[in-house]
Amino acid sequence: MNSFDDVKIAPSILAADFNYLGQQVTDAVDGGADLIHIDVMDGRFVPNITMGPIVVRALREITDVTLDVHLMIVEPERYIDAFAEAGADIISVHVEASPHLHRTLQQIRDLDCRVGVAINPHTPASALSEVITMVDLINVMTVNPGFGGQSFIMDTKSKIAQLKAMINDVHANVDIEVDGGINPETAPHATQAGANILVAGTSVFKHPDGIAKGIASLRAVLARQSE
Ligand code: DX5
Ligand code: ZN
Repeated sequence: MNSFDDVKIAPSILAADFNYLGQQVTDAVDGGADLIHIDVMDGRFVPNITMGPIVVRALREITDVTLDVHLMIVEPERYIDAFAEAGADIISVHVEASPHLHRTLQQIRDLDCRVGVAINPHTPASALSEVITMVDLINVMTVNPGFGGQSFIMDTKSKIAQLKAMINDVHANVDIEVDGGINPETAPHATQAGANILVAGTSVFKHPDGIAKGIASLRAVLARQSE
């Protein structure tokens, strides 16, 4: 049987209460978050506008946890330095927003950050075939990016499995992160297909019994999946 005990949980602060952001992130880390996921939106690549390097810097001051920065912006190469400087550990750019993706990924590597690439629901796995050995992480969007609280798109499961096979074929060490609509019901679909990092906004930060319980609920289904 597969073990899902090493699957990581990355709460997305998009669903946090921004009046208490520092405390909410501390609660998530104390509750067992492995990474903190930061959604950067520019109102151009996606319809919504969120936050910039200033938020990454503020969180860097209060925690050593891995800060996972997901850039949903056009021309990401213009801002990568600023996010690295602010303290990002992982920087992901969208394949759809990066005409010179190879160069942009190299730019992230040169800043000593972990290199991520994100892929929208409509984009085929094959779009990443030429960069798979350059990245540390693939963020498979399981909703259309732009907003929290959307429903997991079940059709993305086959793409997760395809990417997992592509990674194994070249013997690369690449994490597969899933992002959007992840909760205790949908998480097992993603991990069964090959995902090993779960981004979760609503199901963690808006859990009725609190942030730690939201993380624990995800861990509980992973433990059951390992049995
Ligand atoms: C969507 C973002 C996600 C989002 C996930 O554009 O990339 O990270 O915060 O939120 P939930 O878990 O609420 O779908
Ligand atoms: Zn995200």
